[in-house]
Amino acid sequence: MSLVFIHLSDSHLGADEEFRLQDVRVVDRVNAVAKAVRELPFRPDFILHSGDVSNQSELGAQGAYEIAKRIFGAFDVPVYYLTGNHDDRDALRSTLKFPEVEWLDTPGKRLDYRFRAKDFSILALDARQSESAEGDLLAEQLGHLRNIIAEKKKFLLFIHYLAFDIGVPWYLGFQGPEGKDRMIIKNGMEMHKLLAGAGGLCWGVFFGHVHATHTVFRDGVLYSSVRACSVNIGAWPGLSEVIFQPEVPAGFHVVQVGDFGTVVTPHTVAV
Ligand SMILES: [Fe+2]
Ligand SMILES: [Fe+2]
Repeated sequence: MSLVFIHLSDSHLGADEEFRLQDVRVVDRVNAVAKAVRELPFRPDFILHSGDVSNQSELGAQGAYEIAKRIFGAFDVPVYYLTGNHDDRDALRSTLKFPEVEWLDTPGKRLDYRFRAKDFSILALDARQSESAEGDLLAEQLGHLRNIIAEKKKFLLFIHYLAFDIGVPWYLGFQGPEGKDRMIIKNGMEMHKLLAGAGGLCWGVFFGHVHATHTVFRDGVLYSSVRACSVNIGAWPGLSEVIFQPEVPAGFHVVQVGDFGTVVTPHTVAV
């Protein structure tokens, strides 16, 4: 039986409902995406929010999670959250309702967990090292990945960050608030090598963070990122600067995983 889930990401909610990003009232966008998901003519198995639930990991994060709880908590299916660089993992976990999951033991209280859905095992890894846009994976987290591969069952991987260079120059170097920063996982290629060596057991890696839709197929592994449900950012070959695109619609993906393979169907939500 196929698994159907909704992939949405990067809500970047602020401390109160008046919060704006690039002059966009973020809560309006997020509410519009949530409404479009609720109005789908089928019921998904669950919803994945792939991180940056909040816009600021410290100041105002609690208020953002209260708003997120009202919006995402209203879905009548389980919602799984990942930790993004803009999130406060303690406030995220204590404020938002997590479905039943198996929490994994990882140093630094990183929110790593796994669960089963239909015929799939799902591993969620928290690669947040700091407020930096660059993620990292601890040896223990690569161990969690090795463990799931060793079970020799079909699995999906959920992670906030981009794993490696995909040909958009600004992802590899841009001016962040605290100096030069980059959007990839420092040791993402270690993760990729494990996935590529998993003999087709990984049916997809789902991420956010870049605020753009990408489909990447590398060494037999499918990676899929979803546009933000707040403000999107330009991403094309040769682009070396950050260009916010407040005029670009928000959206989400419908993901079906079954005997036919992994099917990602993008939806946009007019703004
Ligand atoms: Fe983000
Ligand atoms: Fe992010």
